[in-house]
Amino acid sequence: MNRRKFNQKLGTGAVLTIGWPFIGSCSSKNGRRDSRAATLSQDFDPDLDLELTAEEQTISILPGQKTRVWTFDSQLISGNQDSLQKMEDSYLGPIIKVRRGQKIRIRFRNQLPEETIVHWHGMHVPEQYDGHPKDVINTGESYIYEFEVMNRAGTYWFHPHPDGRTGPQVYYGLTGLFLVTDEEEQNLILPTGEFDIPVIIQDRTFDQENQLIYLTRGHMDRMTGFLGNQILVNGQPSKVLSLKSDCVYRLRLLNGSNSRIYKLGWSDGRPLTAIGVDGSLLPAPKELPYIMLGPAERVDLWVDLRNMSEGTELTMNSLSFPSMGMMGGRGMMGRTGMMGGDSSALPEGSHYPIFNIHINGTGSTHLPLPDKLADFQPNTATSAHNRNNPRVFTFAMQGMEWTINGRTWETNGVAEEEKVKLGSTEVWELINSGTSGRGGMMGGRGMMGNMMRMAHPIHLHQVQFNILSRNIDGVDPELWDVVKDGFIDEGWQDTILLLPGMRAKIIMIFKNYTGLFLYHCHNLEHEDMGMMRNFEIVAD
Ligand code: C2O
Ligand code: CU
Ligand code: CU
Repeated sequence: MNRRKFNQKLGTGAVLTIGWPFIGSCSSKNGRRDSRAATLSQDFDPDLDLELTAEEQTISILPGQKTRVWTFDSQLISGNQDSLQKMEDSYLGPIIKVRRGQKIRIRFRNQLPEETIVHWHGMHVPEQYDGHPKDVINTGESYIYEFEVMNRAGTYWFHPHPDGRTGPQVYYGLTGLFLVTDEEEQNLILPTGEFDIPVIIQDRTFDQENQLIYLTRGHMDRMTGFLGNQILVNGQPSKVLSLKSDCVYRLRLLNGSNSRIYKLGWSDGRPLTAIGVDGSLLPAPKELPYIMLGPAERVDLWVDLRNMSEGTELTMNSLSFPSMGMMGGRGMMGRTGMMGGDSSALPEGSHYPIFNIHINGTGSTHLPLPDKLADFQPNTATSAHNRNNPRVFTFAMQGMEWTINGRTWETNGVAEEEKVKLGSTEVWELINSGTSGRGGMMGGRGMMGNMMRMAHPIHLHQVQFNILSRNIDGVDPELWDVVKDGFIDEGWQDTILLLPGMRAKIIMIFKNYTGLFLYHCHNLEHEDMGMMRNFEIVAD
């Protein structure tokens, strides 16, 4: 049945002979591919079936010359039309919209000139559908994902996850959204349709010919992470959202940047109202003066435009904060002439606009802000078998390498302390060592040692966790003072921004699936340089 639909969609048999679903050999050069990866399961009856192709395209981003990007092309094979939305005038996307409980099939095809694999960030899926670097496919090959959506309503996303090349692949444009809704969310009256707007924030640098440039300046850039010289929202520079007065909007913000951290604040000083985080709605709306958003983190905002008159503007800014690390850290060392870095980059802690809202027309959706949102019991430490003895993972620079407990990335490697039991509830303590490690090369030179006092946005695959506590004893008080009101620790999260010197305790349950999953720094350059490891969920 699916085959027939598929044929209709493609139209010609000629395409089919080189296309789906006759992929031919499933073996890869390393023989590491699961044979299921390129064939459709007969007993899987998807509610949504789509094709997703990573490929190069040339599109218009800046005035003048077009830009070569890498992008996801997509086609609905079967399912609700609204489940697959392209992002208008953008190389980002698509937006895949699903409901909890639905069965999803994605036929991914790699048309890039290099290996890749797609990861569903934040989603709870079996190992073989998680997009682990060990599962990369070559140019022209395909990978079939088939899973049931088990996550809560939330703003999830997807991006490539190949070994050592996640940074550049995301940078060149491969980022899409995976929005999950559920019954609980549907029972709340939240803005939908044109009032529910994705806002993917990224920084990029273009050359004179309007082409994207990435880390052209060598090793030091890669150590710190890429910082661009302009902000794009949904793939567009100087983004303006034209919204209606007297309406309420839900803005789903994703920090899709490789390494940049934002301190989000409205230009008129009004507080931000958060209603959702990475993997859930919040129990109740939360007002904050500003929000710190690290790479890969999401926050859903409730934006009330009542009493704003036609022609008014409201800007979302990134507010200033001291660059992480003394001596200006990335600002001075990685980014200026001193180390040969790109001096044109927008300094991370500076004040700059992200997007503008123009009030244009009047609507009439006077939705009230619900005072209760999601109803759930976060895990508490008492439920964890290791509550008195958390697993500790220290993120540090050691011997010019980004490490986790002294180790760097190994595709199939998993240490004893990285094995957890299926069904167990655990507390992990994540530590940003905030130093240059044990002296040595870096520590020996004060300035370079300090440069490595960087924040690490730590992400776990497979689970959504709750944040139990943050310990700031090791955090520079000057930094803490201007960022402390910007964290949201409620709700279900898959990424936590660890400031230099910060220690945080998180708690999660490892359920349903065994296998190898990743945990890593989501500064994509740190990740690509090895600040990533496997944890393994083993059957009890
Ligand atoms: Cu956003 Cu390991 O991923
Ligand atoms: Cu992920
Ligand atoms: Cu990092």
